[in-house]
Amino acid sequence: MSVKIMIHYETSRLILREWLDSDLAAFATMNADPEVMEFFPRLRTIEESQQAIETMQKHFTQHGYGVFAITDKQNNFVGMVGLQSNPDKFCFSPCVEIMWRIARKYWGNGYAPEAALKCLELAFNQHKLAEIVSFTAAINLKSQRVMEKIGMTRDVSGDFIHPNLDPSHRLNPHVLYRIKEYYAE
Ligand SMILES: CC(C)(COP(=O)(O)OP(=O)(O)OC[C@H]1O[C@@H](n2cnc3c(N)ncnc32)[C@H](O)[C@@H]1OP(=O)(O)O)[C@@H](O)C(=O)NCCC(=O)NCCS
Repeated sequence: MSVKIMIHYETSRLILREWLDSDLAAFATMNADPEVMEFFPRLRTIEESQQAIETMQKHFTQHGYGVFAITDKQNNFVGMVGLQSNPDKFCFSPCVEIMWRIARKYWGNGYAPEAALKCLELAFNQHKLAEIVSFTAAINLKSQRVMEKIGMTRDVSGDFIHPNLDPSHRLNPHVLYRIKEYYAE
């Protein structure tokens, strides 16, 4: 019998792991919450959330790192945080991006930065990546605050128009942040 070894890490309060089929309901609920999705062009259907889980799982197989499902130590689904390779999509590609989305009821506990710091540690110490970027709509100040809390610096020359959005869309322009080494308190 073969047993699948899942990538799995812990922080003081959180578990970062690959995705389980049982994550779909909570993940889809988060992706259909208008407050969580305020800075995205639209909500996601359950089919899109299922597809996103499959895409994130494939990314782990391909790269050895990816975007984790995040739970607390009681196994409650908290959100997703992790790394995604963007070989050619953006004007600053190739790049590896760090991203986060936390279910509304868990906001304000420092969970996104806690999981993101673990991802930066893995990116630089284990995967030997040279640089991690992050980006968001200029009006998404919450996400920019997370970038600052984990030691990222805004590249003021890096503002860009997201290629998936109409240039006049309310979510354009985007801001770009970078980090080249793991920052630990
Ligand atoms: C952004 C997000 C991941 C933050 O997760 P979190 O676990 O709540 O993060 P934190 O607990 O560190 O709280 C966010 C920080 O932003 C600050 N913040 C909240 N609203 C803010 C605002 N309007 N302007 C500036 N800062 C704000 C909070 O005060 C906190 O900083 P502090 O600890 O210095 O007080 C979460 O809000 C989320 O999932 N949002 C929706 C999805 C999203 O926008 N993802 C990013 C897309 S690029």
